[in-house]
Amino acid sequence: MPPHPRTPLPRLAFGGDYNPEQWPEEVWREDVRLMREAGVTMVSVGVFSWALLEPEPGVHDFGWLDRLLDLLHTHGVRVALATPTVAPPAWFYRAHPEALPVTADGVRYAFGSRGAICHSSTAYRAAAADITTRLGERYGAHPALALWHVHNEYGVPVSACYCDSCAAHFRRWIEAAHGTVDALNEAWGTAFWGQRYTSFEQIDPPRRTPGAVNPAQALDHRRFADATMRENFVSERDILHRLSPGVPVTTNFMTALSQCDTVDYWAWGREVDLVTNDHYLITDGRRTHVNLAMAADLTRSVAGGAPWLLLEHSTSGVNWQPRNPAKAPGEMARNSLAHVARGSEGAMFFQWRQSRRGAEKFHSAMLPHGGTATRIWREVVRLGSDIAALAETAGTRTEADAAVVWDWQSAWAQGLGGHPTVDHDPVERADAFYEALYDSHLTVDFAHPEADLTRYPLAVVPASYLMTEAAGRNLRRYVEGGGTLVVSYFSGIVDEHDAVHPGPVPGALRDVLGLTVEEFSPLLPGRTVRLDGPGGATWTADVWTEAVVPDTARTVWTYADGLTAGHPAVTRNRLGAGTAWYVSTRLGATDLAALLRTVRADAGLPAPAALPRDVEVVRRSGDGGTYLFAVNHTGSDATVPLDAPGTELLTATPVTGHLTVPAGAVRVVRLPPDA
Ligand code: GLA
Ligand code: ZN
Repeated sequence: MPPHPRTPLPRLAFGGDYNPEQWPEEVWREDVRLMREAGVTMVSVGVFSWALLEPEPGVHDFGWLDRLLDLLHTHGVRVALATPTVAPPAWFYRAHPEALPVTADGVRYAFGSRGAICHSSTAYRAAAADITTRLGERYGAHPALALWHVHNEYGVPVSACYCDSCAAHFRRWIEAAHGTVDALNEAWGTAFWGQRYTSFEQIDPPRRTPGAVNPAQALDHRRFADATMRENFVSERDILHRLSPGVPVTTNFMTALSQCDTVDYWAWGREVDLVTNDHYLITDGRRTHVNLAMAADLTRSVAGGAPWLLLEHSTSGVNWQPRNPAKAPGEMARNSLAHVARGSEGAMFFQWRQSRRGAEKFHSAMLPHGGTATRIWREVVRLGSDIAALAETAGTRTEADAAVVWDWQSAWAQGLGGHPTVDHDPVERADAFYEALYDSHLTVDFAHPEADLTRYPLAVVPASYLMTEAAGRNLRRYVEGGGTLVVSYFSGIVDEHDAVHPGPVPGALRDVLGLTVEEFSPLLPGRTVRLDGPGGATWTADVWTEAVVPDTARTVWTYADGLTAGHPAVTRNRLGAGTAWYVSTRLGATDLAALLRTVRADAGLPAPAALPRDVEVVRRSGDGGTYLFAVNHTGSDATVPLDAPGTELLTATPVTGHLTVPAGAVRVVRLPPDA
């Protein structure tokens, strides 16, 4: 299905979530004055305002929002107006307790937080449609309105509900998906453990069972829960399209794989007018800027390559991780501009003014408790002017060198349990392959396994366990047509119903890779194996090994010890005009990067640019020109070679030959159009 036509914003956005209901109205005047001082162009308003907009059932108070939007408009600040449907009021739940979601264990959640929603509840759906309609009617043509922001972060904190309404809804969904009970029995493999059904009425969501639940049932339930949330998004979106024609509608995604893995963003990306994303640094000791780059690349890919917008990130620390370090001086701007480099049309934050009360009072904001006499505020003002200096980059697109094949549904299937080891995690493999590509200074697009890959000389498949036959054929065509493919272990194993493809594994990829796998042999924690490679080189691997039996594939690295000693560990298969590599064990990022240096020769990619580690160079280009973004994450000044003379936009200086990027800084060079 072609993506929905993207509606660009008129300019780069700078601003954040604005929750003025937490403050007396006198504070709003100071807010707008300071927003101007900081160069704020847009704020998200009303995300959690339902209880104020409708204090009693059917009784509305829009006066405060009228005054607020007019005030923002007078001060030239545009508005991303939210539908508050992530936070129904207390009275709603007293009237409709059945709208509170139920866990797989049968526990009903209570009111007192946010996001407690059963997406099948007819009362919830009706109430959400009603408040959305009223907002659309009242503000659909407001001059301050730039964007509709539906709901908030679908998929968190509740990604599925197991109540009786959802059970009935699930039955309708599986009936539509499978047609007949016999087809469902076949697809779910209910012959196993005597689960055969004779009517749809007998089927429940995968609630708590004494032993392992049927994995195909669990997989369909995840699809159902995702589709149900999307149905509710689409219903709000369509109301807004009708009442507010021409104004783009979005909902904020969380594409970072470690932050939300319950939503299939390939499907969601097709439904929004503008892809927007929330990104927070996960401070678990890994390189946060690599995770940021990956989330930004994934967001752009979900947008089909079109510009997107970072709708939330943080000026400094968050408050919901076990430990929440502050950002170092300069880090906020570096994070923001790294998103812009990868296609974001600006940078927005959660939130404008730091709260005094509630669960997020220690979450950083643009305007901290300490006010304007703070480092954060000074950096915010500076960033506002930096983003203004990049105005001309709006609408340009980030150029990618390679593709990473990613499928949320495959990741769901890998989480179903009953697999060879709990130590394998598809997100870990995606992170590792991404990091290796990042360290090779390649810019990456993500792609669905059935998407056309022909424009990429190199495509990488990190642990795509669930792979349809169509995806297998797609990858085969890609290689035959001259592509270079790298596949990680536990890929191409099962079909869309989690059934192992007929014959030896990996059924969907046997031909492409020119091999079969006779047996998986995962390693116990702390155990490693040695691999012997070309020219006497050795690598160490862990977690996963397997008995690979080559057919047309040639062995490049061999297991030197362990149960699979003597079997190929890394292979290369020539097929048609292309090459398919297979990596049957878990390599670390350094060894993967080394492998990619070999592979890029097959792909005809030039040798990596002469850049230091942790210096990113990304290009955005379009009709207006080509922009080279250089982001220096290191503590030393870096030199970036330039192919052509240009103008650095943040310092407004001409540059020739090479660009110096000071330690921790970002530079953006306008190059001649054909550079
Ligand atoms: C999410 C939410 C915001 C806020 C931030 C805090 O992104 O959308 O409302 O809770 O997290 O980091
Ligand atoms: Zn429910």
